Amino acid sequence: MRHEHELVADQLLNIIREHSIKSVCDYGCADGAVLELLYQKAPSDVFFTGFDFFHDQNQMTKKNKDRLTFVDRKSEDFNMIRNEQNYDLVILMHTVSHFNTPVTEMKNVLKFLKSGSYIYIVEIAYDKKTPSEIASYFGVFLEELHQELSDDYLTRHYTKEQLVDLLALEDLDLVFCDTETYEAPKDETDKVTESLIKVYQDWHDSYNDANEVKKSFMSQMFKIEIELLKKYSYSASSRTKLLYKKK
Ligand SMILES: C[S@@+](CC[C@H](N)C(=O)[O-])C[C@H]1O[C@@H](n2cnc3c(N)ncnc32)[C@H](O)[C@@H]1O
Repeated sequence: MRHEHELVADQLLNIIREHSIKSVCDYGCADGAVLELLYQKAPSDVFFTGFDFFHDQNQMTKKNKDRLTFVDRKSEDFNMIRNEQNYDLVILMHTVSHFNTPVTEMKNVLKFLKSGSYIYIVEIAYDKKTPSEIASYFGVFLEELHQELSDDYLTRHYTKEQLVDLLALEDLDLVFCDTETYEAPKDETDKVTESLIKVYQDWHDSYNDANEVKKSFMSQMFKIEIELLKKYSYSASSRTKLLYKKK
């Protein structure tokens, strides 16, 4: 089984070739894993920019290559990149779910595009129906809730319809909208499960000075969570993938 980044990169490579894309921006690129893969495999006349508002890109600029540039808020190019319609393709992979103000932020994304450009979006497909499907996400949601409460990061998942709705007001044509089930490789699921268990244990310890009621509530939550993680692991989940073309 292959890592999600590889699967997404393969689909993007097809899009790059099919539509003769010459410039690509990964909006919310974090450590730039997808761009690195694209850079290795795409035709040698394609330029790549990794853009991230929050991720500390100091480390990333070390990864800059002739056609691959990472930009953050502190970069000189930040305002230029944000306001010029530069890109043939903008990737939003697990980024829309972190927008505080999705409508405004999508308008910012559109500033990156010119007429005929594409936007490719990947998100967790939040169309969970059965209790076991919901339970398999419990760990992720608990972690996200904790991040949100501690003011780190907002996460809001979307159904396919909600994502389509978010972009419906804009000057965009929907090229495709698919839902795919992604089976994570075992080493990846083990790593995620292990790291989540560690996070819960750390939180658990950090609640030591909370009052007894809160401590006992949190302790029950963590126990349930760890059991669920062990039972369901972090193995398969569905993704919504959308491609839009700007009119
Ligand atoms: C869950 S990570 C996804 C990283 C990467 N795209 C991937 O799929 O591996 C979300 C990233 O989006 C960035 N992000 C969140 N809101 C953003 C915004 N308004 N503008 C730019 N980047 C943003 C975060 O800093 C973070 O690096």
